[in-house]
Amino acid sequence: MVVPLPRVAPGTAFPPIPIQRGTRVFVLTGAGISAESGIRTFRDSGGLWEQHDIEDVATPEGFLRNPRLVWRFYSERRQQAACVAPNPAHHALARLGAFLGDDLFLCTQNVDPLHERAGSRAVHHMHGELFRTCCFECDRPSFADEKAYLEGPPPCECGALLRPDVVWFGEMPKGMDRIGEAVSACDIFLTVGSSGSVYPAAGLVSHVRNFPSAHTGRFARTIYIGLERPENAHSFDECRLGKAGELLPELFLLEE
Ligand code: OAD
Repeated sequence: MVVPLPRVAPGTAFPPIPIQRGTRVFVLTGAGISAESGIRTFRDSGGLWEQHDIEDVATPEGFLRNPRLVWRFYSERRQQAACVAPNPAHHALARLGAFLGDDLFLCTQNVDPLHERAGSRAVHHMHGELFRTCCFECDRPSFADEKAYLEGPPPCECGALLRPDVVWFGEMPKGMDRIGEAVSACDIFLTVGSSGSVYPAAGLVSHVRNFPSAHTGRFARTIYIGLERPENAHSFDECRLGKAGELLPELFLLEE
């Protein structure tokens, strides 16, 4: 039986986590990591889902009903994301990636490009990317696209509607096989700034808690960083409560 580590009360100092080369770290980021850069989260007060109906702007059915409305929503988000900068939390993960190389699997639910702007490489965008466009019908590869289409874009060369290359409710997140492999082999599993309410992302930590690492045979340590306890808090060994931009730069002790 796995005995959970004691949860530490908010405000209590946690020691940093030593990281050696070869430690396999899986990081899952959510909207909270970009909040201090000025990008709104979804479920906090004033969040995106308070002002927009998920059914209208984040489902394939909503898009088919009113593609212009959906494009206006994502175009406004493109305009906003174009002028924001990464914060110390993104930079801390870029430093971790530079230290660990391929032993860091950086998986984000965010569609913004702030991890890349901080210098992280090989970021896995499981919910797609805001600055890419693809076709609703044909299988042409998605393409980089920074334009804002407030009135909707021109049609695809096949004649069908173009759509933002983001994952909507009812669609499968991208690269679940790769995510599954990395989760199964990690030594440390960290989630940053995610309410733990959207699956399958929110369920990854319980996989880590239930199965030992395929790499070491030991159970990975599971840590959450965010402003408040997430819905899946029971699956984490530790919930370190506070702003990602303040806690993440102090989280890891990189041991040369
Ligand atoms: P949510 O908006 O659900 O949760 C954001 C979390 O970040 C909350 O728990 C906040 O407390 C926390 N937070 C806010 N500011 C923070 C800060 N400065 N530092 C640390 N934490 C902070 O966002 P997600 O969990 O990412 O999916 O949402 C998951 C998915 O739901 C999104 O990818 C999106 C959305 O619907 C799709 O659109 C498919």
